[in-house]
Amino acid sequence: MPQKTVLTDITTLRKRARQHIEEGAVTAGYDADRATVLKLLNDSLATEIICVLRYRRHHFMAKGIQSKSIADEFLVHSNEEQGHADLIAERIVQLGGAPDFSPDGMSGRSHSEYVEAVSLAGMIKENVVAERIAIDTYREIIQYIGDKDPTTRRMLESILAMEEEHADEMADLLENFATGDNSKKSSAKKHRALTMME
Ligand SMILES: [Fe+2]
Ligand SMILES: [Fe+2]
Repeated sequence: MPQKTVLTDITTLRKRARQHIEEGAVTAGYDADRATVLKLLNDSLATEIICVLRYRRHHFMAKGIQSKSIADEFLVHSNEEQGHADLIAERIVQLGGAPDFSPDGMSGRSHSEYVEAVSLAGMIKENVVAERIAIDTYREIIQYIGDKDPTTRRMLESILAMEEEHADEMADLLENFATGDNSKKSSAKKHRALTMME
């Protein structure tokens, strides 16, 4: 039997919207545990910032060693992780929280690690690992949120899709690097090329 949805009458909706106006986008109908969601989002923000820094470091350290195209890809990923961090920070504020940008304890709050690595292959490998951690944690947070906060869930789902592309691309690079073939276009690059054509 399909589940019955109870719709709130318009008078109650209007009355509720006028209460606690200072809470902005957070209305009485917000079903999730806001404190927990804010904590999970702040941990995710730390994860993204650590990823920005790790990719940035790899971008500069890879330069001049071997492949410019790999260094360039690290920079693209770093910028995309910054985009994720901005989306998360924006959502934290919408939910009435404060994004935690404090460098103190940042790597402790982050799910993924800041590993510098020495060799180019080592850098790529560390990025695959970090992306796989991000994928698992975002998937878990999405499952936790369920239907209770659709906006946060949609945002995290879009980020998760990009982390999967990142992991796929880094895994391709690692494979190409091992075989010495840098000509094969990774799926993420292909996806980006297709998106740009749309
Ligand atoms: Fe990210
Ligand atoms: Fe990523």
